Amino acid sequence: MAIAMGWQKPDNVAGSSAPAIMVGLFVATGGLLFGYDTGTINGILEMESFRRQFATANELDADGVPKILASQSSIIVAILSAGTFLGALLSSPVADWLGRRLSLIASVGVFSIGAIFQVCASSIPVLLVGRFLAGVGVGAVSVIVPLYQSEMAPKWIRGTLVCTYQLSITLGLLAAAIINILTNKIKSSAAYRIPLGIQLTWAAALALGLLMMPETPRFLIKKGKADAAALSLSRLRRLDITHPALIEELAEIEANHAWELSLGPDTYRDIVSGSPHLGRRTLTGCVLQMLQQLTGVNFIMYYGTTFFARAGVSNAYLISVITNLVNAVSTIPALWVIEAWGRRKLLIVGSIGMSAAQLLIASFTTVAGDTKTDTSNQILVIFVCIYLFFFAASWGPTVWVVTSEIYPLKVRAKAMSVSTSSNWLLNFGIAYGTPYMVGDEDGAADMGSKIFFLWGSFCIISIFFVWFMVFETSRISLEQIDEMYERIDYAWNSSRFEPSWSFQQLQHQGWTDSGIPTVDMDSLEPTNSQTTATTTLNSTPSHAEQGVTNTTTNSTSNSQSSSDAKILAQMGNVDFSY
Ligand code: BGC
Repeated sequence: MAIAMGWQKPDNVAGSSAPAIMVGLFVATGGLLFGYDTGTINGILEMESFRRQFATANELDADGVPKILASQSSIIVAILSAGTFLGALLSSPVADWLGRRLSLIASVGVFSIGAIFQVCASSIPVLLVGRFLAGVGVGAVSVIVPLYQSEMAPKWIRGTLVCTYQLSITLGLLAAAIINILTNKIKSSAAYRIPLGIQLTWAAALALGLLMMPETPRFLIKKGKADAAALSLSRLRRLDITHPALIEELAEIEANHAWELSLGPDTYRDIVSGSPHLGRRTLTGCVLQMLQQLTGVNFIMYYGTTFFARAGVSNAYLISVITNLVNAVSTIPALWVIEAWGRRKLLIVGSIGMSAAQLLIASFTTVAGDTKTDTSNQILVIFVCIYLFFFAASWGPTVWVVTSEIYPLKVRAKAMSVSTSSNWLLNFGIAYGTPYMVGDEDGAADMGSKIFFLWGSFCIISIFFVWFMVFETSRISLEQIDEMYERIDYAWNSSRFEPSWSFQQLQHQGWTDSGIPTVDMDSLEPTNSQTTATTTLNSTPSHAEQGVTNTTTNSTSNSQSSSDAKILAQMGNVDFSY
């Protein structure tokens, strides 16, 4: 099956990719917390037992159940986004200080404290504290999971692994919709305490599992811990730490990091104005994340039930489960297409599909006006599902993949945290502002279904944004992405990029204070990714030899290099760049 889907490890990749894939899949379950926590509250707010416990006003609905005031429900919903925004921002200093793995454990810890507050709450202030803390945890998880995955994945399956994170988000959303339906009729507080408490089981499993996971080799290199990085990579690639392919990969990461640092510092200011091309890369990540929200997905996720009910669709709760199911199932094709088509093509095809669906929904509902029939409602639901298919198969996962790849190691955590925060900011804005744009009360814009014209327009803008700004990052290592930004001027030419630098070679030949090598970079020898090991040995000052120098102690003797040379010669065509 895996082979049929094109997920077979290329023959020339040394070692095994299985450990990295297992670790990546396990860490992806962090997405469950994200999806479930954002999805569960809508159903809970409607539950009778919840309203009896938390309502403070004397207003009753037609069934005599106390009402939660609009101002209360909007703060209960929105406080999570405030927490996620803060969590995403805080994740960077923590991930650069504690490491990716420990900071993920810490985030899950904060999330769990928030979940416990929510389960125990019997008044709105305690519930708010719980939702804020859970939000901080989810926001941090939303940065660190893709960061962790991309930093330890082999390049041939890196995009697919990060996509599994989005798959987990959608499964979390789906689980929330189903569990709410199952418990909402319970008369006691168990109706809302069960869905709130269930998240703790995933959180505990994730935190315990993470205790056994390795730290990412790239973080360890960033911290100057070459030996620990070698051990981590050896576990992930199932290769001995003396294996030439492993030594080579580490040496290239190390040399690349030294090169990045030689171009300038790694402060927050640098993610806007620093080198190599950090401003352009940060802008790409932030706008991509914002556009992901502006495609309108969360209008459907958060207000779908209400929208369908107002449109006259019977059983809007069931429709909401169906849309969540479509969202989850449609993510699966992306796991394959993200590598086969690459990021740019997938995003552009997704944008075209989403804009067509959104504009058709807008035109259709505007023309139908109030004269909707069962058939027209079914058509509406079908178009919403078509939109969701395109979102889930493209922009849903790919945005996380691209933002986990385009930044250089020196500022990766910072830039990812800023771009993810922009996603949460828009998420909050849309969640909070949509009722005012769609509603017909005093002061509201009364756009109704015409709001789909707005989402459709942003989908069209996104086609141009991807064409002009998003570089193709599939098939190349995270280090080679630096070279691509340095050598390719226009995003639309990036799909044709072939890596040719060796950062070790650049380091060996020396670079100036500005970080720019003194040699003509285009004249450098091809890297190992394009040549056989034998060629590399014959034509360069031995990458393997430098790797040994960098990662093991006192082992640069000629006899060692020549034995490495023999091993490399026997290995034939091995791809050393991950
Ligand atoms: C988005 C969320 C959205 C979810 C839907 C994620 O990629 O960031 O805002 O709710 O996809 O599946």
